[in-house]
Amino acid sequence: MPVMIRTEQLRKVYRVGKEKVVALANIDLEIEQGEICCIVGQSGSGKSTLLNMLAGLEKPTRGLVAINGKKVSAMDENQLAVFRQENLGFIFQSYNLLAQLTAAENVALPLMFTGMSRRKRMKRAVYELKQMGLGKRAGHKPTEMSGGQQQRVGIARAFVGKPQVIFADEPTGNLDTHTTRQVLRTMLERAESHNITFVMVTHERELSSCGDRIITLQDGHVISNEKLDEATKKANRDALFADLDEKTLMAEEAEQAEHAEQAQQARFAEKVMHNVIQADLPDTQNPGGNTTGEAGTGQNP
Ligand SMILES: Nc1ncnc2c1ncn2[C@@H]1O[C@H](COP(=O)(O)OP(=O)(O)OP(=O)(O)O)[C@@H](O)[C@H]1O
Ligand SMILES: [Mg+2]
Repeated sequence: MPVMIRTEQLRKVYRVGKEKVVALANIDLEIEQGEICCIVGQSGSGKSTLLNMLAGLEKPTRGLVAINGKKVSAMDENQLAVFRQENLGFIFQSYNLLAQLTAAENVALPLMFTGMSRRKRMKRAVYELKQMGLGKRAGHKPTEMSGGQQQRVGIARAFVGKPQVIFADEPTGNLDTHTTRQVLRTMLERAESHNITFVMVTHERELSSCGDRIITLQDGHVISNEKLDEATKKANRDALFADLDEKTLMAEEAEQAEHAEQAQQARFAEKVMHNVIQADLPDTQNPGGNTTGEAGTGQNP
């Protein structure tokens, strides 16, 4: 596979007062097209810094970053904005949704400058939300959703434009274990089916085993860069997703909706039965029975 992301002697030094923090020390990397690449390491090891450099969100102190042969590290802010718009998707740990927009409007945002009609943009956005099991939440604002749901909106937004590369910093950091696995599996399926290069930062080693490549950072250095073969990757995924059944998030949402409808029907049937029974009962307040023929319970319809 051709190389999609390449760094050469990539270095980032932060200055805090008189202190110097070497967040990344001369990193050389190659990530292939279509790879699922996981970046792991302890807190403070430089994972977010590396991701931000690769994505052109921050300028390196020294060195080179190239994506698909384009020197991202040499672009100015305007060139970067256009490049990101056309080629990259992002999933942030803190969602970064716009509070005044609905879920569907947030997801549709990256399509804004593609020349696509609003109707088509919204249709694509709703489709993407359905894939994340959020078809019923398309009209909700971020404040009307749980953290996990907001993150799934953020993920839908990253995929909607089918970018070449998606960068994700702890995308499942705020999700429970079951949702993490489901969301992870959905992201992998969507990335792989569109041949999107997916670069994910995680501090959970177990999650990183689902990828094609695991890059481990320590104190700004790459201490291991491991390419997994297909058999190992498959075995890792089988173990990671063992507790999940075949159901996708979309199928699960449909099922929940069906259950809710069934429960509502059952509650309605119960109410009707209750009223019918009440109407048939002799009036206990009046042992002689209700001679007028009125139920007198006050509960019949
Ligand atoms: N803007 C900044 N100014 C100064 N130092 C910074 C800045 N951003 C990061 N650092 C320092 O660079 C190092 C790497 O930070 P980074 O955020 O990349 O770590 P991380 O691996 O993503 O950690 P975490 O798992 O906690 O998110 C840390 O020592 C951090 O304190
Ligand atoms: Mg980080």
